Amino acid sequence: MYLFKKISTLRQFLEHYRNKNRLIGFVPTMGALHEGHLSLVRQSLETTQCTVCSIFVNPTQFNESTDLEKYPRTPAKDLTMLYEVGCHAVFMPSAEEVYPPGLDTSVNLDFGALAQPMEGRFRPGHFHGVAQVVKRLLDIVEPGRLFMGQKDYQQFLIIRYMAEALSLPTEVVMCPIVREKNGLAMSSRNQRLSPEQREQAAALYQALRHASRWAEEFPPREVERKALEQLHQPGLEPEYFQLVDGNTLQPVEDYESPASIIACAALWTGGVRLIDNLILKG
Ligand code: PAF
Repeated sequence: MYLFKKISTLRQFLEHYRNKNRLIGFVPTMGALHEGHLSLVRQSLETTQCTVCSIFVNPTQFNESTDLEKYPRTPAKDLTMLYEVGCHAVFMPSAEEVYPPGLDTSVNLDFGALAQPMEGRFRPGHFHGVAQVVKRLLDIVEPGRLFMGQKDYQQFLIIRYMAEALSLPTEVVMCPIVREKNGLAMSSRNQRLSPEQREQAAALYQALRHASRWAEEFPPREVERKALEQLHQPGLEPEYFQLVDGNTLQPVEDYESPASIIACAALWTGGVRLIDNLILKG
């Protein structure tokens, strides 16, 4: 496995694969890796000929400075995990390398209704920061395939929209959520939870599972109300629970017309914000 900190040396390395028409797979991360990240790397290893993983805690996507400061950083462990899984190259740039002074890296795309609900509502500016860093990393790596996790479903839709709108030569692939034994979706932020808080946070997945059953009986708004009621318990502060169209992210009014329906939720526990979702249809 090769470790690159500079764009120029990473590009030289990738040139070798590109000259031989090899498919390059890319897994962008902010480090503090877990099984969920490794599943993306494995999917890339299985379906492309060269896998690049980036580790960069992107300051422009954090809307709260304390969240950025507290974001877990475990670089040595991350590199060991990537080495053991067989990743070909890791890109660990500095902030200056990603955002050199004078270079305009902003993405001037209107994500419209995709960016407004849920995460967009509670984390203003977040998706512009995500789009900015992913576009910048795609310009550097130029992969044929980009692997993203379903846990950040809204992020996946926005990046797929960006790839289409800018005609990027990259296929955006969504990989399933990896869960802990109790159902809690794997997330770097889980590292900040105590074992008791991790147990309690599994309530998020339980509410999603219940919602899937309630949807057989109750209309969407009633399902959301019941799920929020279930999540309102000491130690948990739910932010939203919504049944949305899996393509447009607009609230669903019935279960028949949308081709895809997804239940999405966010809550706070122990000062940590967690998100999760479950595909109900499509
Ligand atoms: O999902 C993440 O970890 C980040 O939003 C990403 C895609 C690596 C961009 O910083």
